[in-house]
Amino acid sequence: AGFLPFEHEPYHDFAQPAVAQAQREAFAKVREQYRGRTFGLYIGGERVEGQGSYEVRNPADTREVVWCFPKASAQQRDEAVAAAQHAFETWRFSDPLQRASIFKRAAELLRARRMEFNAVMTLENGKNWAEADGEVAESVDHFEVFARETLRWAEGKPVYPMPDEHVTTVYEPLGVVVCISPWNFPSAIPLGMALGALAAGNTVIWKPASETPLSSLLMLELLFEAGLPRNTVQFLTGTDDVLGDPLVDNPQVRMIAFTGSKEIGCRIVERAAKVQPGQKWIKRVMAEMGGKDPTVVCADGDVEAAAVGIVQAAFGYAGQKCSACSRVIAEDGVYDALLDRVTELARGLKVGLPEDNGAIGPVIHAGSAERIGRAVEAGQKTARLVLGGETPDMGDRQGGYVSPTIFADVDPRDPLFQEEIFGPVLAFTRARDWQHAIDLANDSDYGLTAAFYSRDPHKISEARRRMHVGNLYINRKCTGALSGTHAFGGYGMSGTNAKVGGPDYLFWFLQTKTVAQRY
Ligand code: NAD
Ligand code: ALA
Repeated sequence: AGFLPFEHEPYHDFAQPAVAQAQREAFAKVREQYRGRTFGLYIGGERVEGQGSYEVRNPADTREVVWCFPKASAQQRDEAVAAAQHAFETWRFSDPLQRASIFKRAAELLRARRMEFNAVMTLENGKNWAEADGEVAESVDHFEVFARETLRWAEGKPVYPMPDEHVTTVYEPLGVVVCISPWNFPSAIPLGMALGALAAGNTVIWKPASETPLSSLLMLELLFEAGLPRNTVQFLTGTDDVLGDPLVDNPQVRMIAFTGSKEIGCRIVERAAKVQPGQKWIKRVMAEMGGKDPTVVCADGDVEAAAVGIVQAAFGYAGQKCSACSRVIAEDGVYDALLDRVTELARGLKVGLPEDNGAIGPVIHAGSAERIGRAVEAGQKTARLVLGGETPDMGDRQGGYVSPTIFADVDPRDPLFQEEIFGPVLAFTRARDWQHAIDLANDSDYGLTAAFYSRDPHKISEARRRMHVGNLYINRKCTGALSGTHAFGGYGMSGTNAKVGGPDYLFWFLQTKTVAQRY
């Protein structure tokens, strides 16, 4: 409904010298404009300072403080919830066309500033140009898709008629939605959750990851510029002890929309289940969590295409995606050839600075590199290390850098096969045949994405039926879901399967009212 036609936002072609130059210049401009600045919170439509602030550092070299953000106090947190509750009483009745038009306008504003947003993201979370550009393009798509979804859900749904009553089924918003997001997709993920909430007529507490607040704040300010009433979103940054459990526990909060680790997601589900004094509803929780995503390659599959897809999905953004390929399960007949080719391609990926568009940049924290290093060290006792395992030399730069690492002959019970490492570490496991490969792929607590390579229609149809994941990709890589097309969200411990960017996403943020009228 409305605003048709739709096209996904194209990516920048950085192979063109002028485009690359524009991206380089954007880094200089972003530093000039934002470096050293302390940003604010938004509560009740006002920009306010916090109780102290913290430094956001460039993960590529943590000696650089890029900007500072406030630490919200407990009192400000509670004021923010009250302000969101107050704003809900008007925003809930806002015109869906108004909401959709704001999102549409925000898409236009973002198109004009993509290079700047890319640069901010790179300086906060170490994505290289293409990875940052892909996420900012996804954010444009979100604005466009949510504009359309707002109108589609505003129409209600038809019911089976009866002769003497006029019956309608309409959707109404819930109330205050707390949106809590991770650092690895600092624009598109919080934006997707916040737009879902706002499109449905809810008000929002926007709590970005501490590592990446400016990538979030710029999106919000874009929405304000596009006409979003400033009291509808409260923007809070600070510490988890102030903004974690207490926000989840607050009885005025109606819903928590979370994306992040399994540990915190499960904690939120558990805490939100307890009805607090004064609470008048059962809290709704959306919790999108981790992955241990497999690529299955059958003996009849295209080895070259599979190798390219695996390398992109395993090592893009240093493997720090919930969707990243971290397990390859290959049939015996193709295993050795595939392993050789993936290893060859991965060896060609150089660790470098994201700002120089290096293929593999830093992981988010030096502590993450240490944690990944411990997993690699343990893996060397149980599996065959075929690539990586050493710390790359980055001179005097301070940051967590990890080389692309591949293990072969990994046992399915090994932590390398079962646990989310969230770094550039890939495990190869041999399968007896393609049915065994599907069984091994399903041998996981998680169920987020998977890729399956085969040319055989029967195997493909069995994979479609049997693979236990929310996003299955046949003969292509398992990363890079596009908003509006590849509704994203997993099975099992990958979360609540909310499917952001999909046709049912808004239902998460709505309740249904049936009105039966006699005349
Ligand atoms: P995290 O769970 O450590 O943090 C996520 C957010 O939760 C942050 O904003 C953090 O401040 C907040 N938080 C911390 N303690 C909290 C508490 N007690 N109550 C409420 N909120 C709290 O995750 P991360 O390290 O930022 O992100 C990486 C994880 O996210 C990986 O597991 C990855 O797979 C997952 N992820 C999942 C998806 C998906 O769509 N399924 C997408 C991206 C990332
Ligand atoms: N939505 C992101 C992807 O598909 C995580 O890679």
